Amino acid sequence: GARLVLRRTVVLVGMMGSGKTAIGRALSHRLAVPFLDSDAEIETAANASIAEIFARDGEPFFRRRESEVIARLLTGAPCILSTGGGAYLAEGNRRAIGQHGVAVWLNAPLDLLWDRVRHKDSRPLLRTADPQATLARIFADRTPVYAKAALHLDVRHRASIEETTDAVLDL
Ligand code: S3P
Repeated sequence: GARLVLRRTVVLVGMMGSGKTAIGRALSHRLAVPFLDSDAEIETAANASIAEIFARDGEPFFRRRESEVIARLLTGAPCILSTGGGAYLAEGNRRAIGQHGVAVWLNAPLDLLWDRVRHKDSRPLLRTADPQATLARIFADRTPVYAKAALHLDVRHRASIEETTDAVLDL
């Protein structure tokens, strides 16, 4: 079949649980380009988990590392880059992403996000008395910012990784 050549880095943005990592991996296989993940890069460099970094160094420290990592990864060869859910909120990150790549927002409904994150303990922002309400508030606050992404993909309930990956490729 026809071969799709990637000329700009595809940057996946969106809420925790929207599937950035899973879809990013699948996209990278389909396009035969590297898959990079800003959270994973930060964890490797710090030799600590995201939760540990938040607890030990605080969120502002994490956000600085996140911006540095994203800026660095964007200057490399075109690839698929998955970012942490908060990365697209910083204006400087949005500008860098717009300059060097193309942002794809994986827009998943709130109930789907909650189903995916509720049993996990890896998201420090959800370590609150009422994590479901916290997720709902973050979702409402961030939706208008994610909407600035160049491309939007509505993630459907029960869509397989393959179906969602096909939908990104169609975009
Ligand atoms: C965050 C999302 C996480 C991680 C950190 C903060 C956020 O990444 O970067 O816990 O602010 O939404 P995922 O979106 O991969 O869960």
